[in-house]
Amino acid sequence: MTISEQNQEWRFYGRRAGRKLNGARREALDECYPALKITDLPKDGSINPTSLFERPLKKFIFEIGFGNGERLAQHLKQEPNTGFIGAEPFSNGMSAFLNETQEHNPDNIRVLMDDAMPLVRSLSDQSLDAIYVLNPDPWHKARHHKRRIINADNLDHFARILKPRGKLIMTTDVEPLAEWMCTQAMLHDAFQWTANTAHDWRETPKDWIKTRYETKGAKGAGKMNYLFFEKNKSI
Ligand SMILES: C[S@@+](CC[C@H](N)C(=O)[O-])C[C@H]1O[C@@H](n2cnc3c(N)ncnc32)[C@H](O)[C@@H]1O
Repeated sequence: MTISEQNQEWRFYGRRAGRKLNGARREALDECYPALKITDLPKDGSINPTSLFERPLKKFIFEIGFGNGERLAQHLKQEPNTGFIGAEPFSNGMSAFLNETQEHNPDNIRVLMDDAMPLVRSLSDQSLDAIYVLNPDPWHKARHHKRRIINADNLDHFARILKPRGKLIMTTDVEPLAEWMCTQAMLHDAFQWTANTAHDWRETPKDWIKTRYETKGAKGAGKMNYLFFEKNKSI
C-alpha cells in the first residue's frame, strides 16, 4: 500500500510509473533512493526538517512535484547550506533526478517518491522557509478542479508548516490555473501576494532557475505566471 492510499483525507490522482526505466536510471533509483528517502511519516506533524539532515542547515525548502528535478538539482547546488525536501511520485522523474545528482552526492537533499501531502502533514509547525509548487497538473475539467493541489485545505497545511514570512512560490502557464491558484491563496488568511505590479508576476524573476517544463515549453504553452506569496508575519 502506498503512503497516499494509507491517507484517507486526500486522494492522489497522478501517474506513478511510465516508460520502463533504462539501466542508469534504474541503478540510480536502486542505489540512491534508499539513502535519501524519507521513511517515517507520522500524522502528528512531528518531523522537524532539521532531523532529516546530518549537519546543521540554515534554511529548509520543499519542492512539491519536481518532475525530472533539473531545477531542484541546480537549486541545491546553489544553496549548499539549505536543506531541500523534494516529493515526486512519478518513478521516471525521481530516477532522472537521482541519476543527475548522484555524481555530486549532495548531503542537503531528502526525497519522497510519493504524494507530497502526507509528508506535508508530517512536518512540524513553522519549519519551512519556502514551498515551491511549479507547474502543477492543471486538471482542466471543472469536475476535476478539486484534484488541484492548490486548494483551501492544502493551503491550511502549507500555512502551518511555513515559518512567518515563509514563501509559497507557484508557477503555471495555464491561465485558468493561474487565476485559480492566485484566488485560492488570496482568499486564505495566512497568505499575501507579494506582487506590486504586473511585471512581478508576468516577467521571469532575476536568477530564476527554470524547470524542464518551462525550458522545453509544452505544445501550445502559454506565458508563464510567477505567483509569489508570503505567509503573514503574525500567523
Ligand atoms: C506538469 S508536471 C511539472 C513538473 C515540474 N514541476 C516542472 O515544472 O517541470 C507536474 C508534476 O507534479 C507531480 N505531482 C502531481 N501530484 C503530486 C502530488 N500530490 N505530490 C507530489 N507531486 C505531484 C507529477 O507527478 C508531475 O511530475
